[in-house]
Amino acid sequence: MNKSKVPVTNINLPDLPLFKTGKVRSVFDFGDQLLLVASDRVSAFDFILDQGIPHKAEVLTSISEFWFDKFNDSVAHHLISTDVKDFPEAAQKYADILEGRTMLVKKTELIPFECVVRGYIIGSGWKDYQKTGQVCGHQLPESLQLAAKLEEPLFTPATKRDDHDENVSVAYMRDKLGQELTDKLQALSLDIYSRARDFADNKGIIIADTKFEFGLLDGEIILIDEVLTPDSSRFWSKAEYREGISPPSFDKQIVRDYLSATGWDKLTPPPPALTPEIIRTTSQSYLDIQKLLTH
Ligand SMILES: Nc1ncnc2c1ncn2[C@@H]1O[C@H](COP(=O)(O)OP(=O)(O)O)[C@@H](O)[C@H]1O
Ligand SMILES: [Mg+2]
Repeated sequence: MNKSKVPVTNINLPDLPLFKTGKVRSVFDFGDQLLLVASDRVSAFDFILDQGIPHKAEVLTSISEFWFDKFNDSVAHHLISTDVKDFPEAAQKYADILEGRTMLVKKTELIPFECVVRGYIIGSGWKDYQKTGQVCGHQLPESLQLAAKLEEPLFTPATKRDDHDENVSVAYMRDKLGQELTDKLQALSLDIYSRARDFADNKGIIIADTKFEFGLLDGEIILIDEVLTPDSSRFWSKAEYREGISPPSFDKQIVRDYLSATGWDKLTPPPPALTPEIIRTTSQSYLDIQKLLTH
């Protein structure tokens, strides 16, 4: 099998200084810089699955780089390079592992909120709407259908936690971060979303919702983490979209649907193993969205 097709679920770089291990990435500390190394791990229902998805890391990394480049002139972001040649000396011997899945970035002080923007009502937004008629404190019109397009995109923050994220109101975020920072994050998130949405629209893609993370560096707000990838966003095909159904998305939805269909309770570990067919179609779906967006 071609090396690049073998999924990497464990990033093992023994002598590099580990900063943190996330659900998907291992992060290494080089003083004022970080190496963000994406694995091919996939998480679903807050579990990290044993099996990886071939090509997932390279898709996430190249799509993030694509957007950072696109917004380079107008948005301060953390990406320095994805080229191994630019990485710190100590990392050079791992070039084969790092290639294609790694971003050298500026280290920032993480702002502990997920800056979510929703253009459509789906996922946890839909659940909240059904219960309360609201999403994160935004009152919505009555009798919206599943996956309906919202009149205006909404900023619907969530707290960033290790176990799982919780939707909060903008008022709560203001309370924690202050009015000025919250307002800036809201405006920036809505602006980036709107521009990406218009770009994707021309490619036949709907960005239903997305999540940004930001950090602070010398008092400046910096766009960090991964950006507008299938892990951080719901991408739908315009051709398949309609209200009242959950439109198929280019991400791990195939994995979630499969796990649900097995009858597993989504609580008791370990989650069922994925079949080769599910792994293959999920991998293809990641490659498809990369091609549609960036070519
Ligand atoms: N420039 C940065 N400075 C500080 N932390 C960052 C930066 N970019 C990303 N991170 C953090 O690195 C981690 C990336 O790993 P990931 O697997 O995506 O984690 P998570 O499980 O939180 O999604 C996240 O915790 C993210 O907040
Ligand atoms: Mg993440």
